[in-house]
Amino acid sequence: MQKHNPDVPQRDPHSFSQPSAVCVQHVSLDLDLDFDQLQARGTCTLSLRRTDPSAPLWLDTEGLLIDSVMAVPMDTPVPFELGPRDPTLGQPLRIELPSACDRVRIVYRTAASGAAAMQWLSSAQTSGDQPFLFTQGQAILTRSWIPLQDSPAVRVTWDARIRAPKGLRPLMSAEERGGDAATGYTFAMRHPVPSYLIALACGKLEERIISARCAVWAEPEVVEAASKELEDMERMVAACEQLFGPYRWGRYDVLVLPASFPFGGMENPCLTFATPTILAGDKSLVALIAHELAHSWSGNLVTNATWRDFWLNEGFTVYLEQRIMEHVYGVERAKMEIALSMRQLAQELRTLPPGDQVLHIDLAGRNPDDGMTSIPYDKGAAFLRRLEQVFGRQRFDAFLRAYFDRYAFQSITTSQFSEWLQHDLLDQEPKLAATVDVPLWIETPGLPADAPFAESTAFLAVDVVREAVSSQKSAAALLALGDLDWNTQQWLRFLADLRVDAAVMAAIDTRHRLTTSGNSEVLCLWLELAIAADYAPAMPRLEQFLVTVGRRKFLKPLYEALLRTANGKERALAMYQKARPHYHAVAVRTLDELLGYAAPTGSGTQR
Ligand code: BES
Ligand code: ZN
Repeated sequence: MQKHNPDVPQRDPHSFSQPSAVCVQHVSLDLDLDFDQLQARGTCTLSLRRTDPSAPLWLDTEGLLIDSVMAVPMDTPVPFELGPRDPTLGQPLRIELPSACDRVRIVYRTAASGAAAMQWLSSAQTSGDQPFLFTQGQAILTRSWIPLQDSPAVRVTWDARIRAPKGLRPLMSAEERGGDAATGYTFAMRHPVPSYLIALACGKLEERIISARCAVWAEPEVVEAASKELEDMERMVAACEQLFGPYRWGRYDVLVLPASFPFGGMENPCLTFATPTILAGDKSLVALIAHELAHSWSGNLVTNATWRDFWLNEGFTVYLEQRIMEHVYGVERAKMEIALSMRQLAQELRTLPPGDQVLHIDLAGRNPDDGMTSIPYDKGAAFLRRLEQVFGRQRFDAFLRAYFDRYAFQSITTSQFSEWLQHDLLDQEPKLAATVDVPLWIETPGLPADAPFAESTAFLAVDVVREAVSSQKSAAALLALGDLDWNTQQWLRFLADLRVDAAVMAAIDTRHRLTTSGNSEVLCLWLELAIAADYAPAMPRLEQFLVTVGRRKFLKPLYEALLRTANGKERALAMYQKARPHYHAVAVRTLDELLGYAAPTGSGTQR
């Protein structure tokens, strides 16, 4: 019988680890980065807490080549075995632990075809003349470059020494940075974090100081524009501290990656990873930084214990993001962003199967990535806005702060959240509590009817013009387009539900040059319309976009729009064939599935 460790809540269906028997507490990495072989090689030393003295150590791996396992400090070999490979979860690594052994060192290499978490970019795929590497751990990809217990319920402190070729600077999601090119760069994280937050990037990188605790990192060609765009970072951190309590991670830096980065942003502690597609030149897309920063509270401080609790990370973070935007950029900007997000949610609710419309989604047997829809994000945030509406901002803010304090540096489940909500908010105000149906919000499909209404008066005029243009009845409306002085959010509202033919698109383009827009969000919606309307002048831009930008949120709707056209499948596949070598494995997985693409055998996902 296994002894149960009460610190570890429940079995995680996306990990082979059994932390209730043996739990990894500290990870120590020593790695060489080989940009010729596209491989990381070295050792990973794990410090263990053993609750069940007879139990083996079960780790997660995906594609790793394990050379040996040693008991530390004696350096005696220890028996190990890789189990059968599951296509989603990878391979369990079972390590037989000698009695009293509480440290093991694993000598290993990442897969020769490329680790799923790692994207190795050739110099041609970056802004400058040097190659680049970055990792993306969330949700279950860390196991493809580090053998560990890859479950968000398991928190570890960690340190690392990374050696890279001359001229390339490694950076990690760490509180402390040291070392040098000669001896290897060193990193340390003293707070316990879930494995998906261990991240590494390496390239020709430069730093621009924003404030005493904030800096922007990027390739030299990008760093100036990036630091200009993100100059409000310190104001955002200060706003967060005022709203949600102290920032507990020391530094807050942002690394702007090459355009193939598969997400908008990733909240790696102390060092948010961000796509360069937020660099619009006018700060109109910086809500994404507010979002990743907010994860320093919701997600990194209080973490989802399993991926079915993902809404605790993202719903809270979208809510916090909206509060930061209101605080720093004003209530009207926040209202516009909320209205846009609710529209997105309404749209996605039309296509998602009922089971996937639930906040507390059952993801057992599936890739946790499948849970990354508007539901955890926008329905999650709507639930919190509903609570704010019922209990009042002052009371709800106090609840939030107490929640972050109570569960700081812990991983929790939805039922732990519900119990805390009951105890710290609902039970305090029974009359008000009677007006919120918590199980309806958390456990049932659809959007509850009491979801707070979100609208901005700045969109009224936009809707009028859009309806006129869509119905093509009003020539005056088209002419009026000439005088429009809309901000990014208004353009996004306009384009989101626009119905146009190629002639009208040409008229809009003449006045507003959307085909050459430097705003990636606007451009993406415009290209979607262009595909549907067969608006030929935008096609070269589409092709260029698809082979340079790897952000999945943009790629998916564009390929879907291609699929809906005549000969869509061939067109989409022709584009994809060219673009696929530029995408990270998480985008490749989604798009292979969407397009029914069968990779030629023997080829990895990289290059
Ligand atoms: N943590 C997520 C990204 C993520 C989620 C990666 C699940 C892998 C699995 C990040 O904080 C995020 O939500 N990014 C969004 C931007 C945000 C403004 C909604 C994105 O990348 O689009
Ligand atoms: Zn997020």
